[in-house]
Amino acid sequence: VEVKQLHRTGFHFQPPMHWINDPNGPMYYKGVYHLFYQYNPKGAVWGNIVWAHSVSKDMINWKPLDPAIYPSKPFDINGCWSGSATILPGEKPIILYTGIDPQNRQVQNQAVPANYSDPYLREWVKPDNNPIIVPVGGVNASAFRDPTTAWWSNGHWKFVVGSRRKHRGMAYLYRSRDFVHWVKAQHPLHSSANTGMWECPDFYPVSSSRKSGLETSVLGQNVKHVLKVSLDLTRYEYYTLGTYDPRSDRYVPDNTSADGWSGLRYDYGNFYASKTFFDAGKNRRILWGWANESDTPNNDTSKGWAGIQLIPRTVWLDTSGKQLLQWPIKELETLRGEKVHISNQQIKQGDHFEIRGITAAQADVDVTFRLSSLDTAEQFDPSWVNAQALCGQKGSTVQGGIGPFGLLTLASENLEEYTPVFFRVFKASEGHVVLMCSDARSSSLRRELYRPSFAGFVNVDLADGKLSLRSLIDHSVVESYGAGGKTCITSRVYPTLAVFQDAHLYAFNNGSETVTIENLNVWSMKSAQIS
Ligand code: FRU
Repeated sequence: VEVKQLHRTGFHFQPPMHWINDPNGPMYYKGVYHLFYQYNPKGAVWGNIVWAHSVSKDMINWKPLDPAIYPSKPFDINGCWSGSATILPGEKPIILYTGIDPQNRQVQNQAVPANYSDPYLREWVKPDNNPIIVPVGGVNASAFRDPTTAWWSNGHWKFVVGSRRKHRGMAYLYRSRDFVHWVKAQHPLHSSANTGMWECPDFYPVSSSRKSGLETSVLGQNVKHVLKVSLDLTRYEYYTLGTYDPRSDRYVPDNTSADGWSGLRYDYGNFYASKTFFDAGKNRRILWGWANESDTPNNDTSKGWAGIQLIPRTVWLDTSGKQLLQWPIKELETLRGEKVHISNQQIKQGDHFEIRGITAAQADVDVTFRLSSLDTAEQFDPSWVNAQALCGQKGSTVQGGIGPFGLLTLASENLEEYTPVFFRVFKASEGHVVLMCSDARSSSLRRELYRPSFAGFVNVDLADGKLSLRSLIDHSVVESYGAGGKTCITSRVYPTLAVFQDAHLYAFNNGSETVTIENLNVWSMKSAQIS
């Protein structure tokens, strides 16, 4: 197979070729970050799944190793699917993962390092007590997968496995005193009607007083919990914040956001099967997500690769206590090269101007816009509950009052192609509504691509008249963070003209109100060492 270089990423993780999906078992162990991921060693479509393995000192530059876990025993002979790592007392990592057995049942297994003194933990062994859990007692054997990192509370180790009962999404809870014998709890940790299969659940504490992350077993006064699930039906991820009772082992979401497909999302674009881990080296919680291609499977096969991992994000609780914030890990900044700075530049209605002097196909841009007045904002219609549909209706070229304004990323010189990332501000009965879009409809001249108008609302107070946007642009991905990480949107796009040196970056405004770029910093990004 010849691997096509066009659209391959320079600083987002991807192996030299073939298919990848979920990040698995990320962890920090003795100074080294480990990333495992679902990988097809034989092609650019899903199948033959093993746990590929890479290690890193900074989560940006990677050293590839041989696959760590691959089908070898009856309990995983038909596949080694997603799972998580737990670091047991005495600095002993252990992996929980889903195996596909000879009857194609989904079972839960363990693997441990063959040699704890190997700094890279290259070789993993599967103890003889596997599988540790099989789907019995009414559990659906074809919807029972993706064990979480285990936590310790009330004298037991506990973890959850994603599932469904008819249409009800489930997080089954298992307990053990010794990590060997596991018993299913009578009640799931949580479940929710009409949400379908819960893939890749994640459950962890966040501090309500500090930005630093918490180790997964931490409980206490200033702690809230996050439950995230990947909804197979919508292909988006949703989370709630809530309260965990370690005695009853129940999680109760706060009533500050919906519990289900209309709830909060980590990312309103192409971001799935994510997982967090506690980074004890830097005391933070890191979120890893996978972005699938938006191209056709035939094109994936002909280009020889499919799937990237997004930039790891630090995740913490907003001071409102009502949502999470996310920001690219600071190590990414080591790849920053030439820089261009712009300040106090007005953009009037209908104007766009080019930001020159950087490699626009591989860049990191961070901009703060200032709005002089909010008076001209259009009226918000309360029936507009679906941000993506609203962005489809009010795209980057539809004139408004305040906005649309923002960036035109991966743009061709004459704007035959561009991926706009932008805001639009509405007036509502109470305050303002801010819409953020990353609209792939104009991203490519190729018509057969999936080009959605991804969008989310931004819960931001516009009292100071400022709105910020950071976008990580990398050939076929635009990963954007609105208002300091309140709303994130990732798009996968495949320009035909706006490639390599022919890609451009513009700022634009199609609202009647002038907006000012208070500050804009953009850096050319060097390529990371990945494979
Ligand atoms: C999510 C998922 C998981 C499963 C894995 C298989 O993308 O479907 O539920 O474990 O991928 O590769």
